[in-house]
Amino acid sequence: MDVTPESTGEPRAASITLEGIRKRYPDGTEAVRELSLDIKAGELVVLIGPSGCGKSTVLRMINRLVEPTGGRILLGDEDVTRADPVRLRRRIGYVIQNVGLFPHQTVSANVATVPRLLGWPRERSRRRVDELLELVGLDPAQFGRRYPHELSGGQRQRVGVARALAADPVVLLMDEPFSAVDPIVRSRLQEEFLRLQAEVRKTIVLVTHDLDEAVRLGDRIAVLSEGGHLEQYDTPAALLGAPATPFVREFVGADRGIRRLVVTPVTREMLAPLADAPADLPAVPLGGPAYDALGVMLTAAADRVLVTDEGRPVGVLSRADLLDAGRSDR
Ligand SMILES: Nc1ncnc2c1ncn2[C@@H]1O[C@H](COP(=O)(O)OP(=O)(O)OP(=O)(O)O)[C@@H](O)[C@H]1O
Ligand SMILES: [Mg+2]
Repeated sequence: MDVTPESTGEPRAASITLEGIRKRYPDGTEAVRELSLDIKAGELVVLIGPSGCGKSTVLRMINRLVEPTGGRILLGDEDVTRADPVRLRRRIGYVIQNVGLFPHQTVSANVATVPRLLGWPRERSRRRVDELLELVGLDPAQFGRRYPHELSGGQRQRVGVARALAADPVVLLMDEPFSAVDPIVRSRLQEEFLRLQAEVRKTIVLVTHDLDEAVRLGDRIAVLSEGGHLEQYDTPAALLGAPATPFVREFVGADRGIRRLVVTPVTREMLAPLADAPADLPAVPLGGPAYDALGVMLTAAADRVLVTDEGRPVGVLSRADLLDAGRSDR
């Protein structure tokens, strides 16, 4: 989908191929021993794993802030392993924890960073900045002239995303982008971010420590262990449903049943007949996440919900049947 009126003719998103990439830091640390990963154009892949396992190193090798000591990196068909890193970075948006906005520049100037480096005419930059601020939910007239310290953490975060998207990059790299904000703001930002991604459809590699975030955001999740070793690369449902190694089983933990509910839709098979349902049950839609249904039950202190299809009641879901759906290893 094209959100830039000024199309440069470049593709909107590029696939990323990591072929046996390695990083040995000068002091001898083997941060990434050997990692291969295919990421499709427009896909959102999450890297997750314990602290120090090499996630940030992998991310920073993709935009060559860290030089790989082995292997190849392709964007689309193009081998960028030895491309000019400065030019490469202008095609890749990068969002980091605490955002890294320039404190002495206004929000607008921050967002216009890459367009300015690319020499865009002022008017085109200005239009693009306004468009992006709108896209991330900040009124340009109100926020454009502010400085980063005049924003909340969540607003700064959104400016960071707008800045990363400014020159319409083919890839977006995000290193723990939502970790500096409180859980409520985080979950709102995640939701907004999913909406944004549905619109811009970038290829995104996102690093997180938070399994719930990974399950919520990822089309696929790559679980890494020490040395950047790939334990499993799968959809959230497959990862939670069938951990491939003892490491992953341990990592996704005992409450993976609950987490699975995020990616488990409410289906007709889970439902009991309507017949004996009290009139005042809270309702949830058929096909929606079972996790949301559980949330509704907990909020309403009910152990059942009414399930509706296009507004019409089709059955009753009990808490026990819902939890069973998360537990069974299908
Ligand atoms: N510049 C460096 N020189 C030497 N070793 C480094 C350097 N940067 C990172 N490392 C080491 O490489 C390993 C991987 O680090 P990296 O930052 O990629 O991990 P991470 O998975 O992002 O961790 P975290 O979850 O804590 O952010 C660690 O052992 C780290 O100490
Ligand atoms: Mg890191």
